[in-house]
Amino acid sequence: QDEHFKKVIAHAKEYGYIFPSSEIYDGLSAVYDYAQNGVELKKNIREYWWKAMVQIHGNIVGIDASIFMHPTTWKASGHVDAFNDPLIDNKDSKKRYRADVLVEDYVAKIEGKIEKEVAKAQKRFGASFDKEQFLATNARVVKYREQAEGILKRLGRSLEHEDLADVKALIEELEIADPETGSKNWTDVKQFNLMFGTKLGASADSAMDLYLRPETAQGIFVNFLNVQKTGRMKIPFGIAQTGKAFRNEIVARQFIFRQREFEQMEMQFFVRPNTQKEWYETWKENRLKWHLSLGLGPDNYRFHDHEKLAHYADAATDIEFRFPFGFKELEGIHSRTDFDLRNHEKYSGKKLQYFDPELNESYVPYVIETSIGLDRMFLAVFANSLREEELDNGTTRTVLRIPAVLAPAKAAVLPLVKKDGLPEVARKIVDELKWDFMVQYDDKDAVGRRYRRQDAAGTPFCITVDHQTLEDNTVTIRHRDTMEQQRVAIEEVRAIILKETDM
Ligand code: GAP
Repeated sequence: QDEHFKKVIAHAKEYGYIFPSSEIYDGLSAVYDYAQNGVELKKNIREYWWKAMVQIHGNIVGIDASIFMHPTTWKASGHVDAFNDPLIDNKDSKKRYRADVLVEDYVAKIEGKIEKEVAKAQKRFGASFDKEQFLATNARVVKYREQAEGILKRLGRSLEHEDLADVKALIEELEIADPETGSKNWTDVKQFNLMFGTKLGASADSAMDLYLRPETAQGIFVNFLNVQKTGRMKIPFGIAQTGKAFRNEIVARQFIFRQREFEQMEMQFFVRPNTQKEWYETWKENRLKWHLSLGLGPDNYRFHDHEKLAHYADAATDIEFRFPFGFKELEGIHSRTDFDLRNHEKYSGKKLQYFDPELNESYVPYVIETSIGLDRMFLAVFANSLREEELDNGTTRTVLRIPAVLAPAKAAVLPLVKKDGLPEVARKIVDELKWDFMVQYDDKDAVGRRYRRQDAAGTPFCITVDHQTLEDNTVTIRHRDTMEQQRVAIEEVRAIILKETDM
């Protein structure tokens, strides 16, 4: 698994998807830049989300609020007081870790053992193997599961009650070592606020302390009434936005999974009080469907319902994805009650109520939130798509099976040779297609090598111009996933590609 993750990171750089930030200065920890192909994939994921949330729902609209917000926002939202991570230092290595993550990684190892046992049994018993029954009855597996559950329960309880001494005790009891040095010499656990501070204004006395937003959600809450009134929205309705968020995360080598600057795609859905449970279930279902529609494989997703709830929620679940380092949170779905709007009322002194014409009464709406990290979604798609495949002729190929709708370039046009007028025809095809989707021209190296390069870059189609093209205006279309080739008329190419790649 570690090997695969290393390959993912190297491949992302080699094929122009992700670079370390300011690399010529040796980079900046947990900060990355999206490169020429990465920016396309990221944009396509954002658009795929936007279409599913805003475009097809008559009752969901979008906004783009600022990163800077009035500082009282973060008092009202609870982030100044409660947006903390429990940190622990290793006295020998002087390295700092998130105490909860150390424990969760320990549990992930136990889960890895369970998965191994399942895989072994599956191999032994074949088609007749009943996984559920095995998980419920195999003595060794049951012991592992109880152990994992017990640890997570205790961690959740201690964090909820701010019992940091118990978190430290747990780390000591489990004999968790510094992942880098193996030392078990820990300090006490302390809370650390994750918001980045900055200043607004030039002169020292008039400068105002600000925060970079740690979530985009608050930009939606403070605009709730503006949107409702100007858009004449009727409950239930939603407001969606995508944008940067910032957190001073303590992280260790998780690539773009946990960054200090990242992008969120969030939607707040405003509902009548006491209907939040149903809407919570509806959005859980909707969001999972969205993920499954991309075809990364249903086995790679699972819900993880929270025992420990954030300061604003009355129910919460994560959609977890099987990343190269195990199942981890990809998206959060939270029933946020009226917590945010009520607190903004309290701190601003402004009413944030909705008049419900059907009930003939005013109330502060309840909120269901769906919140997904764009960068995490990128990592899910990218890591899942990268494969080493053995071919029938005994050779191997590296292929990036990015879902065609999300692929950066939809097609590459390749003249078989760099003479006889083939490049000119190929260029003309590029010029015709470029108005409809991203298309590349590639004439370097033998055509077989170009196919391999496009496979590895994730391009779903290669269009090859050869001598027959000059005679009958046909080309071959090669499909990345099946490697099958089809002879088609040039004028059919556009429709064939659009059919597979249009959102
Ligand atoms: N408004 C709710 C909220 O912000 P969250 O669970 O803290 O909830 C939502 O974050 C999503 O944002 C996560 O599921 C994750 O995908 C993404 N995310 C959070 N922190 C991140 C980080 N440091 N780097 C990348 N993505 C992150």
